[in-house]
Amino acid sequence: MRLLAKCSGSLALKNKTLLRKTILANRLKISALERKQAVAQALLFLVGSSLFNASQKIACYCAQKNEFDCMPIIHMIWQAHKDCFLPVLSPNKTNALDFFYYTAEDTLQLNRYKILEPVSQKQIDPSQLDLVLVPLVGFDNEGNRLGMGGGYYDRTFMFLKKAKKPFLLGTAFEMQRVERLPDEPWDIKLNGVLTESGLYYF
Ligand SMILES: Nc1ncnc2c1ncn2[C@@H]1O[C@H](COP(=O)(O)OP(=O)(O)OP(=O)(O)O)[C@@H](O)[C@H]1O
Ligand SMILES: [Mg+2]
Repeated sequence: MRLLAKCSGSLALKNKTLLRKTILANRLKISALERKQAVAQALLFLVGSSLFNASQKIACYCAQKNEFDCMPIIHMIWQAHKDCFLPVLSPNKTNALDFFYYTAEDTLQLNRYKILEPVSQKQIDPSQLDLVLVPLVGFDNEGNRLGMGGGYYDRTFMFLKKAKKPFLLGTAFEMQRVERLPDEPWDIKLNGVLTESGLYYF
């Protein structure tokens, strides 16, 4: 039984690695203009939603390479007089994220993964956030998420196994949707996904 669990675990891992490679290679084929248009469309779905209207403290992320770019959403958060937060690699917890307040006056600096982080002093406990925009490589219709493989979001939001807040909203292009993702015990599910086609709740 134990051996079986170990085998199915490594099979899932292999599937995840292969899926990640395939989706990332396909995402490279989307042009910069298409990405920009997709984000602009997605933004309209988000802004018109009761989810956005009911959320005051919203975490985003700084996109890496050809990921879904949250910058237009960050500007919308500021315009709506809501509070924007960004993740920072935690110096204390292994492979986890801390969240810091981010305003138009704050500067950003590159971390060791070459992802921009705010240079800010004002930290928030992740449980105090209302809505978190989550980057992803792949997602399915059950709310399962495939990330880059570090488990950062899984560890940071582990408390959601027993809590209701914040709402985790994956942000992606439609081509990142897959039929079914492997679901492992430590994976934290998304509550919804925002794409150029709409805002979907799971
Ligand atoms: N809560 C956790 N406790 C212990 N290990 C974890 C936890 N979450 C993730 N991991 C570890 O991190 C590794 C990567 O996790 P996973 O494959 O789910 O990453 P991911 O969700 O794709 O990436 P990320 O969340 O960083 O975007 C797993 O192999 C697992 O060992
Ligand atoms: Mg995971």
